[in-house]
Amino acid sequence: MILVTGATGEIGRAVVDSLLAQDIPVRATSRDPSRARLPDGVDVVRADLGDAAAVAAAVSGVDGVFLLTGGPEIPLHDKTVATAAASAGVRRIVKLSSGRAGDDTATDPIPRWHRAGERAVRESGVPWIMVRPMGFMSNALMWAGSIRAQDAVFAPYADGRVAVIDPLDIAAVAAVALTSAATGQVLTLSGPQALSPGEQVETLASVLGRPLRFVEVTPAAARDAIISHGVSPSMADAIMALRATALEEFTSVVHPTVGRVTGRPAGTFHAWAIRNLAAFG
Ligand SMILES: NC(=O)c1ccc[n+]([C@@H]2O[C@H](COP(=O)([O-])OP(=O)(O)OC[C@H]3O[C@@H](n4cnc5c(N)ncnc54)[C@H](OP(=O)(O)O)[C@@H]3O)[C@@H](O)[C@H]2O)c1
Repeated sequence: MILVTGATGEIGRAVVDSLLAQDIPVRATSRDPSRARLPDGVDVVRADLGDAAAVAAAVSGVDGVFLLTGGPEIPLHDKTVATAAASAGVRRIVKLSSGRAGDDTATDPIPRWHRAGERAVRESGVPWIMVRPMGFMSNALMWAGSIRAQDAVFAPYADGRVAVIDPLDIAAVAAVALTSAATGQVLTLSGPQALSPGEQVETLASVLGRPLRFVEVTPAAARDAIISHGVSPSMADAIMALRATALEEFTSVVHPTVGRVTGRPAGTFHAWAIRNLAAFG
């Protein structure tokens, strides 16, 4: 059995589906199982990853853990799960990290949190695989409201290019990592092409069949918009520091890992947009 943390979120849910499709039994954590809406057959357990006793119960009897944590608690939660997994004799941990955890020059919060989490996993002694994706294609969903209301996208860093990845490819790689890949490796993942926000908007316009405006805004305006969606100012700062790195070459590098691990090419932003057309109206 595999334990999936963050199972009600975007990547975790896709990992659950991918494992179930291979008839692999899944246990999933949620802070509120009554709202988890996971498929029948999943053993959903209540656990906040800050609660060591709940985590110890969740890892009991599982062979592997898909470890997804978020925000400033990444180091603590990764350590709590990894320590419990070591005590329970878990045979592998696949940690969802961040592409930029591999950029030694990155000192902003999100890669720092993930590097500390990776360290805790390595130090636990449980065999591990680190999955380090670049920016998710689904980050474009944050534009859905202004596309629906104004046929426009307001975003900073117009010249930044990121080799964005389809979340389903991350889940497909994670499923292989949880079941058969050699442990002790770091899998850095990207999509097939580095794209600027304007190029992503052009693709969305062609898929939607109507013109969309791309309007570059200042980083300060983008930060305000994130906060207006209920994100704390400190987390907004961490997200903005990450977004600024779209201007660096590191995030535009295309990695062949998805094809190598899954045996099929990484999905394009065009294919992702077609699949998610309904969100943009
Ligand atoms: N977006 C990007 O471009 C990008 C790129 C690279 C890496 N990443 C990494 O991807 C991860 C986010 O993945 P995602 O977008 O799939 O997440 P998500 O959709 O935001 O889902 C978050 C999940 O975490 C669970 N959760 C939150 N707090 C918890 C707690 N205290 N205890 C237990 N569970 C908790 C939630 O479950 P419940 O609410 O059911 O408890 C939910 O399932 C982060 O580590 C991020 O750094 C993101």
